[in-house]
Amino acid sequence: MTTANSPDTQRRLDANAAANPRAASNAGAQRYAGPLIALHWLIALGIIGLLALGLYMVGLPKGLPVKATLINLHKSLGLTVFLLVLLRIVAKGVLHRPPLPPMPPWQRAAARITQVLLYVSMVAMPLAGYLGSSFNRYGTRFWGIPLPKWGWDDPQLRELFFGFHTVFAWLLIALIVLHVAGALKHQWIDRDNLLARMLP
Ligand code: HEM
Repeated sequence: MTTANSPDTQRRLDANAAANPRAASNAGAQRYAGPLIALHWLIALGIIGLLALGLYMVGLPKGLPVKATLINLHKSLGLTVFLLVLLRIVAKGVLHRPPLPPMPPWQRAAARITQVLLYVSMVAMPLAGYLGSSFNRYGTRFWGIPLPKWGWDDPQLRELFFGFHTVFAWLLIALIVLHVAGALKHQWIDRDNLLARMLP
């Protein structure tokens, strides 16, 4: 079956572009489905907020009361973003996704690799934070509700998972920079209006 984002459609678009390279592409004519757009921006805002909050709170002196409040806020927001990411993965499988505009194969591969790594990091990041938080005596509260405490106080496991959490934080920052740079290249250099597909 040939769907809007099937490989056949994609190959046809690339072939048309190769045959007629001067034709202006207007990728923005086909938009993402509304729920995918809403989830994209909610998750983007949540992750940028979590990265800023996370980097700020770990630098605060130990024992400061506001540090505990910020860590609890970070855990609740992090788990909420995790649920939104899972919802987006399901929605992506079900809802229409417009095909990519014509572009050289290396650019298509770069976009795909960045997106896959973004999804892997968006799932691994909150999982590592939750696991790290499970191996201490405080446990995790979700917007004030204590979650079942199945872990135990284990400094080694805690350090291991928080180590992953820190590595994924920097990977996520690098991926977000690449992702935004790609979007701006399409907007300002290729001028194919790609950004309009995802604008609210
Ligand atoms: C996508 C979601 C998340 C993002 C982007 C994020 C981001 C961050 C960042 C940037 C840091 C600072 C890392 C460092 O400099 O060492 C941090 C620390 C932390 N995060 Fe997250 N986080 C997320 C989800 C979670 C979740 C779900 C939890 C727990 C339920 C959590 C618990 C923590 C804790 C306890 C720390 C402090 C770790 C320490 O004391 O070394 N995070 N987070």
